[in-house]
Amino acid sequence: MDPVRIGLIGCGTISAAYLRAAATFDILHFVGCADIDPAASRRTEENFGVPAMSVDDLLGRDDVEVILNLTIPAAHATVNLAAIEAGKHAYSEKPFGLDVAQGRRVLDAADAAGLRVGCAPDTFLGGGHQTVRGLIDAGAVGHPVAGTAFMMSPGHERWHPNPAFYYQPGGGPLFDMGPYYLTALVHALGPVRRVAAITSRGRETRTIGSAPRRGELIDVEVDTHTAGTLEFASGVVVTVVMSFDVRLHSNRFIEIHGVDASLSAPDPNGFGGAVRVSNGREWEDRPLTHGYTDNMRSIGLADMCVGIRTGRDHRCNGRLAHHVLEVMASFGRSSDEGRHVVLESRPERPAPLPTGLANGELD
Ligand SMILES: NC(=O)c1ccc[n+]([C@@H]2O[C@H](COP(=O)([O-])OP(=O)(O)OC[C@H]3O[C@@H](n4cnc5c(N)ncnc54)[C@H](O)[C@@H]3O)[C@@H](O)[C@H]2O)c1
Repeated sequence: MDPVRIGLIGCGTISAAYLRAAATFDILHFVGCADIDPAASRRTEENFGVPAMSVDDLLGRDDVEVILNLTIPAAHATVNLAAIEAGKHAYSEKPFGLDVAQGRRVLDAADAAGLRVGCAPDTFLGGGHQTVRGLIDAGAVGHPVAGTAFMMSPGHERWHPNPAFYYQPGGGPLFDMGPYYLTALVHALGPVRRVAAITSRGRETRTIGSAPRRGELIDVEVDTHTAGTLEFASGVVVTVVMSFDVRLHSNRFIEIHGVDASLSAPDPNGFGGAVRVSNGREWEDRPLTHGYTDNMRSIGLADMCVGIRTGRDHRCNGRLAHHVLEVMASFGRSSDEGRHVVLESRPERPAPLPTGLANGELD
């Protein structure tokens, strides 16, 4: 298959993981990279051999088919829209936008231009959550009734070199980590129908813990403890807690409880991990049915690029990401307005990956 020519915008921390994993997929060919900080794109050129250029030059190139947008959350929609306006497909990091209106604008612009939009996370394409999906679909727990999803930590300012964006709109535990958990849940259980939530904030400032800004205070502009209940269209009720206000806890990442058995799913912010099922006594490990268990960030981009060449749908698609954005935005609305929020979007579940794929294959 003819490789798809990619232009990278946003050469920060996560770009290295993408560029390393991209080597697995022959469909991906990086023709240039750009950043508002020219030193960042120069580093990417030095480390990965991808030519550095200005954002405008990259967007203006005729040979770029897809823009990979790894900027900060506040820039995701703007850069996606610029890519679409330049006639390129866009694939961005999560979240899909800061609010539902931004996500909608990106989807509408792409539809009008006949272009594709994709969005992280792609971790649900890993062996762990593909196995979960297969078990749920095969009836391993019986009819699913309930679930839980917990991501609770002290926050990213301990380790990230430039963590302010995690405490600005588009950040916080829900918009930052929620996409992994919510996308995995929608992939396994289908779309969400309504949300009820309460959100709060433990502290008004945070102290950066890593160089070069160690010791600097950053303002907290978003809620950092979010607790909600989701009712899926299928009727499953899932309790979700995403928090940057918790030192330590003992809850599992995601559990799905059916009428016959319970399932414990691995960390949705990773590709592999243990999948366990219990009919009420011990947990039993289930063998993973799929590969891609190492850090494969870029597999969702590769899947979109295969779709561009073959005409099939891509899995990490804008409609799924927009639904997850609407779920997350509904936490804040429900908490502020003291009511359930019924969602407008209702995407299809993305198709599961086939079993038996060789490394680098997606079909
Ligand atoms: N760091 C991680 O471990 C991690 C993991 C998964 C996902 N992500 C997501 O990836 C995205 C980027 O995170 P990061 O940790 O790499 O952040 P970062 O701050 O390290 O890098 C972001 C880069 O984007 C550039 N940038 C910002 N606005 C821009 C614009 N308008 N045009 C061009 N360049 C612009 C910045 O100069 C910076 O170099 C975020 O959405 C984050 O949620 C990060």
